[in-house]
Amino acid sequence: MTQDVLVCTPIRPEKLALLEQTYNVFPLYRLTDPAEREAMIDLAGKTCTAMVSNGHFPADEAFLARLPLLQIAACSSVGYETLDVGAMTRRGIRFTNTPDVLTDDVADIAILLMLAVRRNLLAGDAYVRSGDWAAKGMMGLTRTTAGRRVGIVGLGRIGAAIARRCAALGMEIGYSGRAPKPGVPHAYFADITEMAGWSDVLVAATSGGAETAHLISGAALHALGPEGCFINISRGSVVDEAALLDALESGRLGSAGLDVFMNEPAADPRFAALPNVVLYPHHASGTVETRDKMSQLVLDNLAAHFAGQPLLTPVN
Ligand code: 8YV
Repeated sequence: MTQDVLVCTPIRPEKLALLEQTYNVFPLYRLTDPAEREAMIDLAGKTCTAMVSNGHFPADEAFLARLPLLQIAACSSVGYETLDVGAMTRRGIRFTNTPDVLTDDVADIAILLMLAVRRNLLAGDAYVRSGDWAAKGMMGLTRTTAGRRVGIVGLGRIGAAIARRCAALGMEIGYSGRAPKPGVPHAYFADITEMAGWSDVLVAATSGGAETAHLISGAALHALGPEGCFINISRGSVVDEAALLDALESGRLGSAGLDVFMNEPAADPRFAALPNVVLYPHHASGTVETRDKMSQLVLDNLAAHFAGQPLLTPVN
């Protein structure tokens, strides 16, 4: 029997075409009109046994209650704090995400942001383009990275991949998390503010959600200091964003490289006025190769579920 699948957010077009060959797709993602969206969700509630979304789609208890036949929700993100997995588990709905396949690209962006900030890459690019180089001579000096200390908040898959890259850059590495990781040679800090005081660069690589909200406080950013650099590739919510903006504006924090923000996609315009930041539009996993793999995992998890096979990347 062909299953009905509610597709809340798009996946890669080629993978969407494959999805459409295998299932009856309810393309909620194509609709912008609120009334039309409501009508499609009502319709999906009558037959849909699966849904596809990314980790930004709000699937709360009330939404899930409208899909009583749902057996599986396949999410094409590694983070999923907007989806109520507890409610899914209570309702017997399986849930999958896309870990591992995006780890390298996300870790690369952490390093890219760090180096771009420390070496003033964007100002350097503008310096060449504008002709300032010829007119004014050498641009201002920047900051070295080798031999500096990086504190990584959250040494999970992505945090560990960032640590490997930082080690290759000759950095000294510290990390914080719920508990020290067995076999990890880097310095462990139970207290993030203490680690920030030790660090030249502080990288947020922890997961989002209520548990980690404002984990990185104004005090931690001040401890990082006027020469310190804050990098965030996790979620905007993990840092006190008001304190981050204040610290960057006042110079109490030196600089930042940010892929994630509180109010995405309309990031606080105060960020755009800052000369000491490099900004990226939550696109750390945004390569063709990785997005293909994330979409493929969605397909593979659905296929495994409906074939009665073990899920590839189950969360519950
Ligand atoms: C984005 C991410 O979700 O996987 C995650 O948790 O933050 C990113 O990969 C991306 O927009 C995928 O939809």
